[in-house]
This record gives sequence, C-alpha cells and structure tokens, in this order.
Amino acid sequence: MLGRLNHVAIAVPDLEAAAAQYRDTLGARVDAPQAEPEHGVTVVFIELPNTKIELLHPLGPDSPIAGFLAKNPSGGIHHLCYEVADIAAARDKLLASGARVLGSGEPKIGAHGKPVLFLHPKDFNGCLIELEQA
Ligand code: CO
Repeated sequence: MLGRLNHVAIAVPDLEAAAAQYRDTLGARVDAPQAEPEHGVTVVFIELPNTKIELLHPLGPDSPIAGFLAKNPSGGIHHLCYEVADIAAARDKLLASGARVLGSGEPKIGAHGKPVLFLHPKDFNGCLIELEQA
C-alpha cells in the first residue's frame, strides 16, 4: 500500500529563520511560504533529491500546530507523509484493520493539491502519519 516517503514535516516556532537556515546554512533548495488556511498552517517545502521536508508554522487561532509548539517550544518532527496510489482504498483498508483516521475520514486537499488523510499517532507507534494520493 505504501509508496514513497513524500515528506517529513517539522513544526517550527520561527518559519523565516528555519527557512533561512535550510537555505543558507544547510544549502538546500527552499520554496516560497504557502498559506493553507483550511489546515491552519503556513508551510515551506525544502526540496531534497530523494524527498522533501515540510516546515510547518501555525496559521489562525485554531491551528493544530499551536498545541504541538506549546509542548515543544523549540519545534520538532510533527508527521511523516507516505504516498499511496488510491487514498480511498487505503482508508477503507486501514479502517477495516481498526486504525483511526483523523477528522471526518474524508480526504482533504493537501499542500500539493492532492488528497490527504491523517492517521491517529496512537495507532502508529506514536507517529502522526499523513497519506497523500500520489
Ligand atoms: Co504534510
């Protein structure tokens, strides 16, 4: 079911500083910030040869990232995103196996304009998993 690792997401307290660090200190290709109001985040993608890093910063009053940063003030790894070929089929299989899908269970459009879902971290070794239809 799982395909490529699409990205690793890192919640950051200072988006500009984190983007500058990846660009200037680490010498990576850094995309422009992208606001995603329906997910409560602003994202910056770092393009690596084999995957991407997604820098996440809270956007708006109900951001899911705000609580994470309150617990992890210097930032931290927030989720892993794996690609799947058919997100509805993946969801149905996971639900049948007892895993919990966050929210309504209906895929939302993610940062790449493709459908995404999130899986409960308690069902996956304490790791929040995003699935993205490739
Ligand atoms: Co993500």
